[in-house]
Amino acid sequence: MSSFPPLTNDLLLRAARQEPIPRTPVWMMRQAGRYLPEYQAVRSTHEFFDVVRTPALAAEVTLQPVERFPIDAAIIFSDILVIPQVLGLEVQMVKGKGPHFPDPLAEPADLSRLRTPDPATDLDYVLEALTLTRQRLNGRCPLIGFSGAPWTLMAYSIEGGGSKNFSASKRWLYRYPEASHELLQRITDTVIDYLDHQIQAGAQYVQVFDSWAGLLPQPLFETFALPYLAQIAEALTERHPDVPRVVFAKGAHYALDALADTDYSVISLDWTMDPAEARATVGSRAALQGNLDPSALYATPDDIRAQVRRMLDAFGPTGHIANLGHGMHPDHQPAHAGAFVDAVHAISEELRAADAPAGG
Ligand code: CP3
Repeated sequence: MSSFPPLTNDLLLRAARQEPIPRTPVWMMRQAGRYLPEYQAVRSTHEFFDVVRTPALAAEVTLQPVERFPIDAAIIFSDILVIPQVLGLEVQMVKGKGPHFPDPLAEPADLSRLRTPDPATDLDYVLEALTLTRQRLNGRCPLIGFSGAPWTLMAYSIEGGGSKNFSASKRWLYRYPEASHELLQRITDTVIDYLDHQIQAGAQYVQVFDSWAGLLPQPLFETFALPYLAQIAEALTERHPDVPRVVFAKGAHYALDALADTDYSVISLDWTMDPAEARATVGSRAALQGNLDPSALYATPDDIRAQVRRMLDAFGPTGHIANLGHGMHPDHQPAHAGAFVDAVHAISEELRAADAPAGG
């Protein structure tokens, strides 16, 4: 176990614990990525998965947004699709198209093609990248680890990439419920072991991305997504009770109350969810993260500030981690991301000053 320098900014972790803090912490999903010219420069000489698999490059790209903006967290540069890869599926990143699986799972018999991975060795490059990044951050802010959620990883593994209506993976849920549960459990076991190792390697906050949760009607979510999400949080809470666990179940409005009853410490909201309603549903069972529409960053900096003010007002000062409702887009302007970060810092401090009792 390595030892790391103490944090000089731990606002993210305190917000996750719903402690009172002087301002709202902020980071952005996909904050390291194609909208940054310095990322494009690295990508001009290295393939996507080569960056992911080379700890020095992954650490460099992880730190790029931290060097550029006064953000309150770094998120390790990797991808959720490393899990299908170590389960034995080939995943390519096709320029302009996104992920592509040349030979996805078609029928339950294909489960026999899957191997049982050992994240400690098969994903050692992610673990090394975490340790190296944590050292290079030198306590500036916490480091976030992540994984895809079982349902979202199952969906990619069967669709073979992005898809219009995800009919192939949803067909499995309706037609092959037992095989679906078998696949989901195998993914879950790997995710738990993987996130456990990420924490041992230096991750201080771990987020589970269920990007395709919203494809499921509530009964299917409750059968095929929620139990596996809950297992992950429960196992990590037992092993690392002090490391916040975050769930981002995009589009799953109906699931907020149920998610609040699991062991996740933070629920990340997409931009269609209403912060005040979410707070009323969740209460103090979890902190909330989110949720400015990423497309709002196309607005002028003045408009961005006005939208941030509305967002901060709606969430309130306690137990909120500011973020976008989904990831940065490749055509976002870095200066507008900077305006978002600065606005969260300035306006959240201002709102707290306005709320503080006079005198004293
Ligand atoms: O947030 C960060 O800065 C950390 C890095 C990160 C990436 N992917 C880098 C990446 C994270 C957290 C992810 C998670 C991820 N990957 C998700 C969950 C979050 C979400 O967006 O819902 C999903 C669904 C994926 C799968 C994936 N990887 C897709 C669909 C694509 C291509 C399309 C797209 O939006 O970029 C990727 C590729 C990818 N992952 C890129 C980056 C920076 C772009 C690849 C490139 O450089 O060409």
